[in-house]
Amino acid sequence: MTTNAPSGNRRAVKAVIPAAGLATRFLPATKAVPKELLPVVDRPVLQYIVEEAAAAGITDVLLVTGRGKTSMVDHFDRRPDVEARLAEKGDTERLAEVRRTSELADIYTCRQGEPLGLGHAVGTAASHVGDNAFAVLLGDEFVDLEEPLLPAMLDLQARTGGIVLAFVEVNPEETSRYGIASIKETGTTDVVEVTGLVEKPTPEEAPSNLAVLGRYVLPASIFEAIDNTKPGSGGEIQLTDAMAQLLADGTPVHGIVYRGHRYDTGMPLGYLQAVVQLAVKRPDLGAEFSEWLKDFVGSLKG
Ligand code: UTP
Repeated sequence: MTTNAPSGNRRAVKAVIPAAGLATRFLPATKAVPKELLPVVDRPVLQYIVEEAAAAGITDVLLVTGRGKTSMVDHFDRRPDVEARLAEKGDTERLAEVRRTSELADIYTCRQGEPLGLGHAVGTAASHVGDNAFAVLLGDEFVDLEEPLLPAMLDLQARTGGIVLAFVEVNPEETSRYGIASIKETGTTDVVEVTGLVEKPTPEEAPSNLAVLGRYVLPASIFEAIDNTKPGSGGEIQLTDAMAQLLADGTPVHGIVYRGHRYDTGMPLGYLQAVVQLAVKRPDLGAEFSEWLKDFVGSLKG
């Protein structure tokens, strides 16, 4: 389902999922279990992310892993023993679900020896990605499959050849938790031209209320920019700094303002919200869970 955008440039066909971070905001759960494998209802966060890529036509997925995180790859392997047991029991639904995880995409891995920052993690993907544009999907956020974001980002990147980001609108008082964009309107609804990015500005300093979401489509020139990037905030090699170099060199940078639902599972509050929201939506669980939830919330009022 790879498509060409109107200009004839090729749409990116590979995705990189940086998942080698230490996940300190979710300790102690993440001492031994990668945050990317925490279950949201009955599937790990990482599966939602790979499904998002696959639904956008990307089936070449590179996981950047690190120490203690190799179990992430197992999730996408066949499990003939489990499959045989389910087949014996006649549990065809679960059998299909288990098989589906190994059929979603071709999963490749590379290692980030030390978590030296998101930019550094993306840099480890250089030889796998080669000379073409590619998507980056952070390993702790995903969006609703019914309201996809990635296809529009891939099409826009194929038209511009530059960097394509995605933003969500946040309350002005929340800007200090996010990377915030300064922009020029393009006259097209939901597409903005990015003139700069500011990390975690106070509401007074914030140039807009558009916060960076963990999806990027990047040209291969980002790798050279990463190589030239010195450690920045927190001593890490920041992707934002590498993108700023390309912007300064004249690479077009655009952003799509996403109006759908984004689940941010990188810390306990967002994770809990994701579990509840997705459980309510599930055809097999939603009705019963919602009834219980209403009673529970009712009992809190008194
Ligand atoms: P985060 O900023 O969420 O960092 O990284 P983190 O280490 O996962 O979590 P906290 O902040 O300590 O709680 C965003 C994404 O980039 C990856 C992470 O795994 C996550 O998917 N990442 C970050 C790397 O792969 N390598 C790094 O060096 C840093």
